Formats: sequence, structure tokens, C-alpha cells
Amino acid sequence: MGSRKIVTVHSYRGGTGKSNLTANLAVCAAEQGKRVAVLDSDLQSPGVHVLFGYREGEIRLTLLDFLWGRAELRETAYDATPRVCPESTGRCYLVPASLTAEAITRVIENGYDIRRLNAHIDQLLTALDLDYLLIDTHPGLNKETLLATAISDVLLIVLRPDEQDYQGTAILKEVAGQLDIPHTFLVVNKVLSRADRDRLRARVQEAFGHEVIGMVPLSEEFAAIESRDLFVRRHPDHEISHTLRGILARWPT
Ligand SMILES: Nc1ncnc2c1ncn2[C@@H]1O[C@H](COP(=O)(O)OP(=O)(O)O)[C@@H](O)[C@H]1O
Ligand SMILES: [Mg+2]
Repeated sequence: MGSRKIVTVHSYRGGTGKSNLTANLAVCAAEQGKRVAVLDSDLQSPGVHVLFGYREGEIRLTLLDFLWGRAELRETAYDATPRVCPESTGRCYLVPASLTAEAITRVIENGYDIRRLNAHIDQLLTALDLDYLLIDTHPGLNKETLLATAISDVLLIVLRPDEQDYQGTAILKEVAGQLDIPHTFLVVNKVLSRADRDRLRARVQEAFGHEVIGMVPLSEEFAAIESRDLFVRRHPDHEISHTLRGILARWPT
């Protein structure tokens, strides 16, 4: 198992940019020759497949089919490399969440057993020979996310410079602190251009006791993509793309 790493990207509130950051970080890693997969565990409001340009008809089996015991986990992983980083020497897979309204309704009504995921995740890492497995999550505290977080090597908490995010992150930090995760880092997203970044970084680090490994500006160019594409593909030399590669450089290898 040694060098393989499970990285969970989480935030207390929605809309912080988790799915966009997760998808872009995965592509950055693949462009550096790594073998990565993104697992979309946000079964109630899935999104990474959109960023990777998948349409409903292109995806047959999803994470939900696995959780309901209808498929092997490996069968739910799609090789997205040709569409998201065709020139790279790495690989980027996607394990999509439920996509149809019917499946999402069933998730809400009947739930699922996330422990099945924890029991099979090592097999996926081995079968795909992954360097990193990135888990995108549903915001907030719930049993599913806590179980996924508990098996992570890295927890990346995303927050905005916003009092509601601060209060939520404080709760998240307290709960995550009991899980014994080897590395917990903070990423502040949607930072205003006029913000004093050094002060903001110091304030956030002091408040939460974890290192801020990236501060991503609020960017109209980012929003303009409307989750139809990957920022790092559209703007590889943009400051934000450099920041994302800087975040990646801090993960244990
Ligand atoms: N740094 C940024 N600047 C501007 N818009 C951003 C930035 N990061 C994310 N967004 C936008 O915020 C919205 C929510 O992002 P998303 O990744 O879906 O968040 P989450 O998964 O946390 O709910 C998207 O419309 C996305 O384009
Ligand atoms: Mg999301």
C-alpha cells in the first residue's frame, strides 16, 4: 500500500468549490504523470462527471450500483484520460455518483451502506494502480462523509472567507480531529482580490490550527467556465493553476 494516498476534499457548507477543486487537482496530478481517480461520493448532488464532460448516456454503472451490491467497484471506474488530459503520461479515472433523478430519490429514501466502500477501496487502488484517490464529498457532517474521511491519508478542508464557513469549519475540525487523519490541510477559496492575504492566512491558520496550503482568488474567469470544463485545461498558466499545483506539491508522496 505504501505510497498510495486517499485524499478527501470536504467543506462544512456547499458551494465552496470542492468539486471544481477536486477535479482540477486530479487533472494536475495526472498531467504530472500520476495515476489518479476521483470518486464522487456526493450521492445527493453529484457533479464531477459534469466537469469531466460526461453525459448521462455515457455512464452505465455508478458508485451507487456498487453500494447497492449490483456491481464491483472496479466496474464503476471510467478512464477519463482521453477527455481530460489526453497528452499526459498519467491516468485519470472517475467513479461517478448516481446521476438519475430516480437513483437520487432512492438514495434519499433508502440510504446506502458506505461501509461497503471502505471495505473495497484498497482493491480499487490496487486494480487501477493508483497514486492518489480523491474523494469529493457532500457538504456538512454526515455518517457517510465521516466514514470516508476516517480512511483518508489527507483531509483537505475547503472554506471561503465567510463567517458562516468559519463557524462550520470549527465544528468540522473538532469532529475530524477525533478521526486520527495523518494530514489535515486548509484551502481558502474565493478570496477577494482586495483581501490582505497574509493576514487572512494567519487568521485562518490560527483559528483552525491547520496549515493553509492554498489560497485561491475569487475569479470571474473561473465562474465563467460554469463547471463545463476544467480551469487548469483552459488556463494552464493562470495564477490559480499555479496555486493548484502548489497544493498538490504539499501532499505526501
Ligand atoms: N475561485 C473561484 N472563483 C469563482 N468561482 C468559483 C471559484 N471556485 C469555484 N467557483 C464556482 O463556485 C460554484 C460552486 O463550485 P462547486 O465546485 O460546485 O462547489 P461545491 O462542490 O463545494 O458545492 C461553481 O459555479 C464554480 O464555478
Ligand atoms: Mg460538489
